[in-house]
Amino acid sequence: MKHLTLAAAFCGLALATPALAADDEIAALTAEAAGIVAKFSDELKGELMAAMKAGGPVNAIGVCNEKAPGIAAAAEEASGWSVRRSSHKLRNPDNTPDAYTAAAIADFVAREAEGAPASGLATAEIVEENGQRVFRFVKAIPTGQTCLNCHGGAEVKPETEAKLAELYPADAARGFAVDQMRGVFTLSKVLDE
Ligand code: HEC
Repeated sequence: MKHLTLAAAFCGLALATPALAADDEIAALTAEAAGIVAKFSDELKGELMAAMKAGGPVNAIGVCNEKAPGIAAAAEEASGWSVRRSSHKLRNPDNTPDAYTAAAIADFVAREAEGAPASGLATAEIVEENGQRVFRFVKAIPTGQTCLNCHGGAEVKPETEAKLAELYPADAARGFAVDQMRGVFTLSKVLDE
């Protein structure tokens, strides 16, 4: 790093190089993160739709309850990233956001209240955490029609409601409407180890 600083001191042009490099790095990491999210999301939705078809929402609750953490763990193992879901209205307390994700969620909630569509809410940057450079990526998950079976209001059938109450006594992930932000994918990767 020292020679870069020296070069920058002697040549004004070189000053621009580190910033450009960081932009390129963020663009590459963002593309990688988007790919991980797309794969994770497809797998979750695939399992969910298959379970809904096989036995309706009550049966499909098992997919989210048992399979979602496994699918996330597989995504982490394949990528070496931390891959999680979280929300401002949590169902499972295991998905409680860390401080960074909580701040991103609060920002998304405020932007959504101002009229921004949930589908466009995302943030990507390199931050310092515990002396390490860490890439953080947070992307809103919009609510789709199927999601209402378990995250809607009146759409949630009594038998589904009973099963949810049994598994998640503190469930706050209800009352959503189509296109509203249901929660987020939150990914991180330590860059310097
Ligand atoms: C069959 C019921 C069911 C359906 C349909 C469903 N979910 Fe869930 N969802 C759950 C359950 C159960 C959990 C808790 C999972 C766990 O224990 O980790 C959950 C958790 C989540 C979480 C993690 C944050 C939290 O609150 O714990 C997000 C985000 C989420 N769901 C989004 C969605 C979206 C988006 C859809 C539609 C594409 C959807 N869900 C459809 C049952 C469902």
